[in-house]
Amino acid sequence: MADALSIVYLNGSFKNIREAQVSPLDRGFLFGDAVYEVIPVHDGKPLLLKEHLARLERSLSEIRMVNPHTSEEWANIVKSLIEQNGGGKLGIYIQVSRGADTGRDHAIPDGINPTIFGMASRIAATGSPDSGVAAITLPDSRWARCDIKSTALLANVLARQQAVEAGADDAILIRDGYVTEASVSSVIIVERGVLITRNNGPELLPGTTRQLVLELATEAGLSYREEAVSEQRLRAADELWLMSAGRGVVPVTRLDGSPVGDGKPGPVWNRVKGLFTDYIKSNGPGTVEPEK
Ligand SMILES: Cc1ncc(COP(=O)(O)O)c(C=O)c1O
Repeated sequence: MADALSIVYLNGSFKNIREAQVSPLDRGFLFGDAVYEVIPVHDGKPLLLKEHLARLERSLSEIRMVNPHTSEEWANIVKSLIEQNGGGKLGIYIQVSRGADTGRDHAIPDGINPTIFGMASRIAATGSPDSGVAAITLPDSRWARCDIKSTALLANVLARQQAVEAGADDAILIRDGYVTEASVSSVIIVERGVLITRNNGPELLPGTTRQLVLELATEAGLSYREEAVSEQRLRAADELWLMSAGRGVVPVTRLDGSPVGDGKPGPVWNRVKGLFTDYIKSNGPGTVEPEK
C-alpha cells in the first residue's frame, strides 16, 4: 500500500494522522493482539464491504473480542474515510486491537477498551501489473491459525521481504509439500482450463478477492475445484494467479526463476480479469451505500 492519507479514524473521531496517538501499552503494539481488514475502493465506492465486515467479525470472535461496531457504523466510518481523503481508488485499512492495560500481561485483562483505527491509502491506477509478475516459493513458517486476519504478521513480513530481495512480487508458501497461500495474497492455479485452489481452513485466509473470482468464473461457465495443490503441481501449472483486495487478480509468469506455462499471462486469466474489471465497473460509481 502507498503512504497513508492525512485523515484517519481513531476511537470515535476523525483527525489528522499527525495528531493520532495510541498508548505504547496497546496490546496491538506489545503482542500483535489485534485484527484488521483492507477494503478496496474503486471510484469512491468500497468493493465487497459486506464480505470484509463479515470476515472482521469472524476474526474478532476467534480472538474472543466483541465487535465494537455494527455493520452500519463500520460502513459510515469507511464512507467518511473515503470522502475525507478525496475518494477515487483507495485501500481502506481498519484495525481493532484489544486496547491498552496498565501493564504487560499475556492474559486478557478485564474491562479494557479496544483501540479502533482506520486509514486510507491511494492505490495507483496502474497498480495491477497485467504483464505478469515473478514469485518465489518458501516454506510456510506461520502459525496454525492463518484464517484469522491478525496483525501479528512477522512471518509474512519476512517472507515478502525475501520475495522483494529476490526481485519477486510475492512468496508462495508451502506447508508439508502443499501450497497454502502467498505472503500477502491468495493463490489459484489453472490446469487444463480448471481453476484449482486450496479449500478454506486454518492454514489460509479466506480471501475475499479469490471468492469473488471463483463466483465470477463459475457464472461465466468455468469450473473450479477446491483442493490442496502440491508443490509439483504448482510448478507444472498452466497458469498461476495471485489475488488480493489491493491488487485484484495478478498473473504470475515466473516462479523461482522459471516460466509459468509459456511465460505469459494465460488466456483463462485474461478472461477472468475481464469479468473482474466488469464487476468493479458495475459496482457503481461514486456513492457509498452502507451494505447491510
Ligand atoms: C496472507 C493473505 N492471504 C490472502 C489475502 C487476500 O485476501 P483478500 O482478497 O481478502 O484481500 C491477503 C490479503 O491481504 C493476505 O494477506
